[in-house]
Amino acid sequence: MSQYATISGTKIKTIADLQAMKQAGQKITSLTAYDASFAALLDQAGVDVLLVGDSLGMVVQGHSSTLPVSMQDMIYHTQLVSRGRQQAFVLADLPFMSAATVELAAENAALLIQQGGAQMVKIEGAKIATIQFMVQQGIPVCAHLGLLPQLIYQAGKYSVQGKEEKEAERLLADALEVEQAGAQLLIVECIPATLAQQISEQLTIPVIGIGAGVNCDGQVLVLYDMLGIGTGRKPRFTKDYMQQGDSLAAAVQTYVAEVREQKFPGLEHSF
Ligand code: KIV
Repeated sequence: MSQYATISGTKIKTIADLQAMKQAGQKITSLTAYDASFAALLDQAGVDVLLVGDSLGMVVQGHSSTLPVSMQDMIYHTQLVSRGRQQAFVLADLPFMSAATVELAAENAALLIQQGGAQMVKIEGAKIATIQFMVQQGIPVCAHLGLLPQLIYQAGKYSVQGKEEKEAERLLADALEVEQAGAQLLIVECIPATLAQQISEQLTIPVIGIGAGVNCDGQVLVLYDMLGIGTGRKPRFTKDYMQQGDSLAAAVQTYVAEVREQKFPGLEHSF
């Protein structure tokens, strides 16, 4: 653990810790979080990365996509999560259109860090120039490739990406390019497990998967999906941990243990 970042004397995980986990072959655990109470519960269960995802537009606000989520929403929920955690790394999403230009992306990323308390911002797509610009300004960046929920109106449906050879080659090339541009973390969503493994092996930065098989450097799920809350269709790649545990804490602890032991995701959760 690095020695500098502390809150009330407690060490906060840093990107250097996540990088060391990859090098040591220890799986990184991550869940989305949107408020202080859940942030504290996940933190106590040992979750390494709390992702303040724009999925909050769907699971918290009740929208049918992530597109209505504003910067104000993201700053507010990032503040709540930062306040609730003690040790976990806080990663926050740049919502739809908040990175429409390189300057706008950097300004909004700065707000998530300065006002929200995020340690890193996540951007959907291989927006190389934007990632380079943010990194030059000193902003830590996580790229998000594969299924991009902010493109749902263009795509028309949520589907597995990179199944065709050409598409898989492009995704691998994008992954290498975002790393070269300075991204320090990558999330890959809904891609074949073999492709995710290739990406995780070829990149030096940690690669966290959702619907991307067991061989990524870590796993992330939408919290409400893994707690079995929600009225929408349950994606194949998620697992309801409330079926196994009799409390929220037990459910999260089981998820953390299963990711660390590579019991989750199983083949039935992978493509
Ligand atoms: O917004 C979110 O929750 C995400 C995850 C699905 C990775 O981006």
